[in-house]
Amino acid sequence: GGTRLDIISIFPEYFAPLDVSLIGKARERGILDVRLHQLRDWAHDVHKTVDDTPYGGGPGMVMKPEIWGAAIDTVIGDGAPRMIVPTPSGRPFTQELAQELAAEPWLLFACGRYEGIDSRVMLEYGARLRVDEVSIGDYVLAGGEVAVLVMVEAIGRLLPGVLGNVHSAVDDSFAPGAMRNLLEGPVYTKPPVWRGHEVPAVLLSGHHGKVARWRRDEALRRTIANRPDLVAAIDPETLDKRDREL
Ligand code: ADE
Repeated sequence: GGTRLDIISIFPEYFAPLDVSLIGKARERGILDVRLHQLRDWAHDVHKTVDDTPYGGGPGMVMKPEIWGAAIDTVIGDGAPRMIVPTPSGRPFTQELAQELAAEPWLLFACGRYEGIDSRVMLEYGARLRVDEVSIGDYVLAGGEVAVLVMVEAIGRLLPGVLGNVHSAVDDSFAPGAMRNLLEGPVYTKPPVWRGHEVPAVLLSGHHGKVARWRRDEALRRTIANRPDLVAAIDPETLDKRDREL
């Protein structure tokens, strides 16, 4: 079948958006096999407790290792998925990591809430599986669920057959190749004049070479304006004389 995605969370309802649009279609077509799991199913006290106070003191609660261990053992069986733990203290989620994860046959997402999951869970499974703690950006969400939605959407659209051959991911911002470390420039559709604003003439010229040159210039301009941090990361080998004049 397709790529298998297991997601363990105390809020599986958060993943309702995976039933719609591009990802919903990919699931219907068997490209993606998404399996949601309620972590509390592995909590056996009357209150279905999944968290406890942190050793060493401090605010908030930490998710208990035994519950996570029982859940992960059941979900993976003898298998060895690549395990992703969303956390603001993880390595950055990038288009490059999305590409790498899109090539895996099986991913397991372990969503923490509160102050996070007892660290021994990552240590224990890190000895058996590839485990990555991953952050989607420098801000703090209430839990990993929305971060996993972000990652699943970014990964899902890269799977063969998800984007039709009419639209391909090669021109995306950050795509490997010519767009690496570049933001996509502006786009336009009909009408040619709207409220007095004209579509740039080059796009109506039918000259493919000039259009490509213009798009490249606009991508560089936008990257310089919005992401000066990325400009420093552009490989000078990929810049031509025209680019350097911008
Ligand atoms: N959980 C809370 N904040 C997060 C973030 N920025 N990235 C991934 N998981 C998170």
